[in-house]
Amino acid sequence: MKRILVFASGSGSNFKSILDAIKTGELTAECVGLFCDRDGIGAIELARRDGIPVFIHRRKDFEDYEKYFLGLLTDMEALRPDLIVLAGYLSKIPSTIVQRWSGKIINIHPALLPKFGGKGFYGIHVHEAVLDAREQESGCTVHYVDEVYDHGSIIEQIVVPVLPDDTSTRLQARILEQEHKIYPKVIQRLLTSN
Ligand code: GRF
Repeated sequence: MKRILVFASGSGSNFKSILDAIKTGELTAECVGLFCDRDGIGAIELARRDGIPVFIHRRKDFEDYEKYFLGLLTDMEALRPDLIVLAGYLSKIPSTIVQRWSGKIINIHPALLPKFGGKGFYGIHVHEAVLDAREQESGCTVHYVDEVYDHGSIIEQIVVPVLPDDTSTRLQARILEQEHKIYPKVIQRLLTSN
C-alpha cells in the first residue's frame, strides 16, 4: 500500500475528501500521518477520529531554524511517505525538504495558476482578487511544490466560471467543491503511475 503524508493548517476539508476517498476505495493508499503548523484546527480532529498520527511542528517552538527543520525532517523520514500532500498548509516547506522529496510533494491552490498565486494569495484573498480583476473564470490547480510559493509545474486544473452576481465566499465554496473531487483523483493517479 502506498503511503501518503498530509500537511494542513486549517479546517481540513480537503484532508477529509482524501480520507473519504480512502474509505470508499477510490484512493488505494494509507494516510500515515498529518503534519500541522498549529494546534486547534479541524484537520487534527479529523485525523484523531481516524486514528491517524498527528505531528505538530511550530517554528516558534524552536529557538533556531535548524532545530525546527531537523525535527520536521526526522519525523518525515521515519514515516517513509511515497507522496506528500499539502492540503491548505500555510507554512513554507524548507527548501532542503523540497529537494529531498523533489517531485513527490504536491499542493492544491484555489485559482488557475499561474494567476492569483504566490505570497498573500491564500484563503478568501484569492477569490477577492479574482473578482476585483473581473475574471470570467477561476478554478483550482494541483501542482508540484518547488521552492517558490504556488510555482511548481501544474499537474491538473478545473475551471469554475465566475458568475455575474458572485461574491468571494460563493466562488470559494464552488471552487472548494471541485477541489474535493480533483485532489483524491490526482493523488490516486500519481500513486499508481510510478
Ligand atoms: C483550499 O482552498 C486549498 O486550495 C488551499 O487551502 C484551502 C484549504 O482548505 N490550499 P481546507 O482546510 O482543505 O478546507
